[in-house]
Amino acid sequence: MFVFKAAVVGAGTMGGEIAQVLASADLPVVLKDVDQRFVDQGLAKAREVTKAQLDGLVKKEKITSEAADQQLEHTLGLITGTTEYDGFGDVDFVVEAVPERMEIKQAVFEELDAATPGHAILASNTSSLSITEMGAATLRPDKVVGFHFFYPASMMRLIEIVEGEETSEETMQSASNFAQQIRKMPIRCAEVPGFVVNRILNSAGSEIWRYKDESGLSAQEIDKEIAEARVTPMGPFYLSDLLGLDTVLHVAEHLKASYGDRFYVSPEMRELVGAGNYGQKTGKGFYDHGEAQ
Ligand SMILES: NC(=O)c1ccc[n+]([C@@H]2O[C@H](COP(=O)([O-])OP(=O)(O)OC[C@H]3O[C@@H](n4cnc5c(N)ncnc54)[C@H](O)[C@@H]3O)[C@@H](O)[C@H]2O)c1
Repeated sequence: MFVFKAAVVGAGTMGGEIAQVLASADLPVVLKDVDQRFVDQGLAKAREVTKAQLDGLVKKEKITSEAADQQLEHTLGLITGTTEYDGFGDVDFVVEAVPERMEIKQAVFEELDAATPGHAILASNTSSLSITEMGAATLRPDKVVGFHFFYPASMMRLIEIVEGEETSEETMQSASNFAQQIRKMPIRCAEVPGFVVNRILNSAGSEIWRYKDESGLSAQEIDKEIAEARVTPMGPFYLSDLLGLDTVLHVAEHLKASYGDRFYVSPEMRELVGAGNYGQKTGKGFYDHGEAQ
């Protein structure tokens, strides 16, 4: 199946960038959230990322600044923001990127089943939840698949294509092809907790969170050491603030519940999330980020 038009549901940390990735591959995209304020934030994120990419090309003298301006307006013109399901009647592929809670995901999948054409693939950007359970909320579980981008979606090339119990081989193949159509690198994963990447990432994260609690060092001190060693572009606590501590905590708890003491849940992260401090998006996490985004 070729994808002529796509949709993204949820315009938060991931949704705005995912819409940008799709539009940059020259696809018309509908971007939906529950409130116009969130839609506008997603559109602003898409503009910011596209502009930064094009500015980079101008700087390297690959394109002129006039061509960059034209391309910016063309790409952004492909994204239509909405708070309703208008514009979903002729989409071929949907990426759901709403909060990591099964009851929200299932409600969205039921609505998508009614709003989109029968041939459309309904994909979830979930980091850890069951694709099979989301598929069960629809009349087309064979067309429900995991399509897991990484943060920031505009830069990270990998996408995990996750096979639920009812996902058909045709859907797996179409999702892999679509990942390539939008210039990403698909890997196929079984539906196991954490899939592939989050299991690796969270084993390292668990060691760092444990070390912090045992050593009494602060998040800032550990981040500084790691950033200065240049093993990663930024420290793990700062990165967690950017990813969203609610999402990071949910994945950590899911992995601990699934695999036991191989994984660790930071009590400090639990306290921060309990107090409504989710990192950059609420303005405070391990760090102060000023105003909520
Ligand atoms: N943050 C990350 O680094 C990351 C990375 C990979 C995957 N994911 C996954 O992506 C998904 C989204 O995560 P996020 O970090 O972007 O969350 P987020 O909280 O930043 O954004 C979620 C958005 O969904 C909107 N929303 C809530 N209910 C909705 C509904 N019924 N219809 C439409 N929109 C609705 C919210 O208003 C919000 O804008 C989760 O499943 C998460 O596990 C997140």
